[in-house]
Amino acid sequence: MIRTKFQEMLGTKYPIIQAGMGPYSTFKLCAAAAKAGGVGIISTIGMGAGLSSATPEAATKVFGKGRPKDLIKQSIFNMIEELKDAPDAVFGVNVPVSSEFITVATRLIKGTIEAYNESEEVRKKLRLIITSAGDPLPWAVNAAEKGSKKIKRAIKEEMPGVKWAHVVPAVQHAKRAERADVDFIIATGREGGAHCAWRDISTIVLIPEVVKQVNKPVVAGGGMCDGVSLAAALAMGAVGIQMGTRMIATQESDFEQMWKEAIVKRTEQDTLVGRGLFGPMRFLRNSQSLKIVDETIKLEGGKLFKGIPVGSNMAIMRLEMDGLANLFDGDEDNSIILGGVVTGRIHSIPKVKELFDSIMTEAEEIIKTLPQKVIAPEIKAE
Ligand SMILES: Cc1cc2nc3c(=O)[nH]c(=O)nc-3n(C[C@H](O)[C@H](O)[C@H](O)COP(=O)(O)O)c2cc1C
Repeated sequence: MIRTKFQEMLGTKYPIIQAGMGPYSTFKLCAAAAKAGGVGIISTIGMGAGLSSATPEAATKVFGKGRPKDLIKQSIFNMIEELKDAPDAVFGVNVPVSSEFITVATRLIKGTIEAYNESEEVRKKLRLIITSAGDPLPWAVNAAEKGSKKIKRAIKEEMPGVKWAHVVPAVQHAKRAERADVDFIIATGREGGAHCAWRDISTIVLIPEVVKQVNKPVVAGGGMCDGVSLAAALAMGAVGIQMGTRMIATQESDFEQMWKEAIVKRTEQDTLVGRGLFGPMRFLRNSQSLKIVDETIKLEGGKLFKGIPVGSNMAIMRLEMDGLANLFDGDEDNSIILGGVVTGRIHSIPKVKELFDSIMTEAEEIIKTLPQKVIAPEIKAE
């Protein structure tokens, strides 16, 4: 059985995280991933309706109306109920902390802290908070001394039993997360689904460089889907993997059947990047995402495609809102379907447990048999 620092930190059977994926709650996915031995994650973007442009109107269909703080507390307590017969299952929450979402993020993190303080069961099972898409420093202990102009809640001080990870797309951001003293870093290459970096940094370049330059455990994201990915991530120095796109195409996932099947059908040539809610976003290629790319090209002379940050506009936001609403009508070509390049390596819709078990078996097999496949006689296995 592959064991790394990951299992030591989080107390799981497997070194696998199901990625946060708003605007869905990923409630069912979180429960399935936690029960299958990984870390399940509750996603929170959809909890910001009315308070953030990052939350599409359509998300209220998923969560109903309510204050973000109450919605997240309720989700956490519901998850405790859902996992009551699974003593080893653990889960976490993902809160994007980008400037567009910061008002909601502040309330979501407050709600998480309250749930942690109010319930022994939450303190046992809530093991992880993943911040993403923004600056981790305001959430650090002694943030001002560490050089942050803004001060938010000190995550590690307020929830000492919860590990804090931050998602980074580049070495520079990983260094900032290290300064914030996160417990570990989730480094995600640009091939990942949905929000991705302004600059084109692939997972195979990002992971070893973050491992080299930053003194924190690293979990690899972007393009992960099977045992080959896990073995490769470990070879690059990571302690585990986080998967988004692969998790959508599972039996238990909260996503529409059409979305799951789209991921299975598409090849690695079928994604593109345009301006999304917080920055660049990777979509499956269809009429709607091509329209977003057309609009993105018009933004300040196509700055996004030169790797330069650029704001969104009403036309793009409208396309996103309409595209999400079209999902509910099953209109594949005019929907917004987010997904990573790894869509080209996904050919089935398994149960989460089958997926996790197969990832572990395959990775172990690769690691065990690799020496026999190497030609150099001096390092060939006995
Ligand atoms: C549909 C979808 C929604 C996502 N929403 C979020 C989100 O709410 N917060 C976040 O930090 N990342 C989000 N992501 C990114 C994932 O957390 C993860 O980093 C990414 O999917 C990893 O790459 P992969 O898709 O190749 O596995 C989303 C990804 C997808 C595909």
